[in-house]
Amino acid sequence: MQPRQALHALFGLAVILVAAVGHAHAADAVKAPPLKVGFILPMTGQSASTGKQIEAAVKLFMTQNGSPVAGRKIDLIVKDDGGVADTTRRIAQELVVNDKVDVLAGFGLTPLAFATAPIATQSKTPMVVTAAATSAITEQSPYIVRTSFTLPQVTVPIADWAAKHGIKKAVTFVADYGPGLDAEKFFKSQFTLDGGQVTGEIRTPLKSPDFAPFLQKVADLKPDAVFVFLPSGQGAAFMKQFGERGLDKSGIRLIATGDVTDDDQLDGMGDVALGVVTSHHYSAAHPSDLNRKFVAAFEAANNFRPNFMAVAGYDGIRLIYNAFAVTKGKGGGDALLAAMKGQVIESPRGQILIDAQTRDVVQDVYIRKVERVAAKGNQLYNVEFDVQKAVKDPAKAK
Ligand code: DHB
Repeated sequence: MQPRQALHALFGLAVILVAAVGHAHAADAVKAPPLKVGFILPMTGQSASTGKQIEAAVKLFMTQNGSPVAGRKIDLIVKDDGGVADTTRRIAQELVVNDKVDVLAGFGLTPLAFATAPIATQSKTPMVVTAAATSAITEQSPYIVRTSFTLPQVTVPIADWAAKHGIKKAVTFVADYGPGLDAEKFFKSQFTLDGGQVTGEIRTPLKSPDFAPFLQKVADLKPDAVFVFLPSGQGAAFMKQFGERGLDKSGIRLIATGDVTDDDQLDGMGDVALGVVTSHHYSAAHPSDLNRKFVAAFEAANNFRPNFMAVAGYDGIRLIYNAFAVTKGKGGGDALLAAMKGQVIESPRGQILIDAQTRDVVQDVYIRKVERVAAKGNQLYNVEFDVQKAVKDPAKAK
């Protein structure tokens, strides 16, 4: 062999070696396919803001924390169910059977979570609920874990606050389905226990409600306060009609769960919202360093403020990442579920715990008042002024 030929041969061998190493890497990647997370969210329809908020938060988390986890890439699949339960169920089935997702997540409304629970059970797929908040959801499948909240959890603190602040007679005003019925029931039981009296119980339809006739009833009943629960997305319409009927100047106090003074819509509500006292687990104005960083990053990536749906989505994907890491990237429904139980997460809302027994979230619940915040361009925010620490879902604590 001539020296020149030898050099060529050597060079050829080097090329083959490099190619082989490259192939070995590619083969590893094939052996370890991505872990898949399927979020089912209402991206269209009446609850579209819930989908928009959660998707934005999940994408922010993934941008900040990257992929892979434990050597495996994370594939995020987001599907729109339009807020229709039959669609949620069909999509969940497809995600489990065709896409073979490792985890299902999302669920913008209670009926959508109920519709999917049997699929989680049958397929042994962890189902992380990052929105829907009827207490009983976590009891529909042993594979359900929740990072959002429950209505009893956020309602009992405002009932306590009302009774301690001169409100003796209250009327409840709730959306007529799971979370509204939870809010109605737990407001009444706590407020009555505290010495108050519920003098009327009003339920409004979930779909496209016209609040006017129901608000007239509140005016006629003349309570000291009206306690309101409406799902995310309905607060602005309610507040507008409350103001138009002059109820804000009637001497009837408006108190609510924080779903009504939702950060997604709050600043657009205007002065009618000023002074409204609510209880909830998250405010974009929560004064912690972690939250300030979260809100700044969220607002830099989106042209809107994060709300309580966003924070539950952000913590939900963190819970899933942590579980993937605990299983060292192996996954598996039962192993992931076990890894989710008992997790403690430092959230922008404060510390949260996934109760190992109930798989529901334990968290601080704040009492807040709507104020214009000078340091934030005079925009309306829910300003926290009191707190009940580490609140367990009272429907399960009993
Ligand atoms: C539910 C939906 C909401 O938008 C909300 O704010 C609270 C509860 C639900 O359907 O469970």
